[in-house]
Amino acid sequence: MPTDESEDGFPSPGHRRDVLNTVALVTPHLRARDTVLDIGCGPALVTWHLGMRHRGPILAVDIVDSRIKPTSHFALYNGIHLPFEDDSIDVAMLNFVLHHVPNDTKPAVLAEVHRVVRHRVIVMEDTPRNFMDRIFNRRHGETFRRSIGSTAGFGFFNQAEWELVFNDHGFVVKQSIAIGRFARDWKQPYARSCFVLEKSTPRPDVAVRARFAERAASASHVEEPRA
Ligand SMILES: C[S@@+](CC[C@H](N)C(=O)[O-])C[C@H]1O[C@@H](n2cnc3c(N)ncnc32)[C@H](O)[C@@H]1O
Repeated sequence: MPTDESEDGFPSPGHRRDVLNTVALVTPHLRARDTVLDIGCGPALVTWHLGMRHRGPILAVDIVDSRIKPTSHFALYNGIHLPFEDDSIDVAMLNFVLHHVPNDTKPAVLAEVHRVVRHRVIVMEDTPRNFMDRIFNRRHGETFRRSIGSTAGFGFFNQAEWELVFNDHGFVVKQSIAIGRFARDWKQPYARSCFVLEKSTPRPDVAVRARFAERAASASHVEEPRA
């Protein structure tokens, strides 16, 4: 496990701003004893800093272990099937994860989140608004794809497109917030959004998956699969 280097535990000032921005956006939506699941925790900086402030359990999963902070409840999983009981999580977070999930798999991931969560889901996403955003998002997606040796196509959707996708998958969009370009690392002033979702019923069905495939095909921010 790599170690972090700065005195306050952040690898760089940019990480510091990123993490504190995420924590500030998430914290108001947690009740004191909520069980929180950080899906795609990555370095676990957000998991750890949230754990410093929150009194309930914080669980974390990812498809790779790139933690630089210790987390007491971490599990590797296959990227789809969450190792938790139905309705066992109060609040799930997907912070800058969904654009890395292949489009073919996104509906299954969202169905799993819907299954395990009792109340609320918080999603942070890169949501391109202009040409420059799209260029940098694509580069970011390609870098991650190379790092895990994948050739699958990934999808960056804009803020309105995500709202439709969440509605389709059995969530009510309670808040959809455009994050200021300079609220996070100044060196990466890309368009991002924070979504606060409430679980609604019924669970998404087969028709939803077909509709998602159409949405993904018509979205203008998709990286095609590579041969
Ligand atoms: C940009 S990092 C974000 C890390 C962390 N959530 C944060 O905000 O600091 C994206 C993370 O998503 C993870 N990821 C990619 N596909 C995933 C999947 N299907 N399920 C869970 N995590 C996934 C990656 O391994 C990576 O750690």
